[in-house]
Amino acid sequence: MAIRNIRTYGDEILTKRAKEVEEIDERTKELIEDMIETLHKNNGVGLAAPQVGVLKRIIVIDIYEEGTDVFVLINPEIVKTKGQQTVEEGCLSFPNQFAKIVRPAEVTVKALDKDGKKVKLVGKDLLAQALSHEIDHLNGELFIDKIIPGTLETVKPEDEKKM
Ligand code: NI
Repeated sequence: MAIRNIRTYGDEILTKRAKEVEEIDERTKELIEDMIETLHKNNGVGLAAPQVGVLKRIIVIDIYEEGTDVFVLINPEIVKTKGQQTVEEGCLSFPNQFAKIVRPAEVTVKALDKDGKKVKLVGKDLLAQALSHEIDHLNGELFIDKIIPGTLETVKPEDEKKM
């Protein structure tokens, strides 16, 4: 396992669409392990493969809640959203920048797990926020383009979450 460098704003890879994973091979498994390690090292809630320079549709999310494991989702697809929440948000690719943003309150996602098994996940609150943020990354979309104007800050808000 290894910590990977996180690409930051201005790096072209962050605005590209990531490709579907066709086969979960050894390299993919190694990438997933590295992404989890990199996420935890940076105290992040979520990380998408393009943020470590790999244009593959893979995300990892840890909401640090008792009883939940790290979510590893391959080729995730939002199939339904419900409601809205206004939240503080940061992105691991934008060091020290935080803003308010409107995200769905609930998100239903279809994906493959790390073993290639089909899964369906319903996320609420922070998990919905993280799923929405990370799946945006796979489409080359960044939180900065969706924030509520005038809310961008360089001071870390108390309940900020980096994704
Ligand atoms: Ni992000």
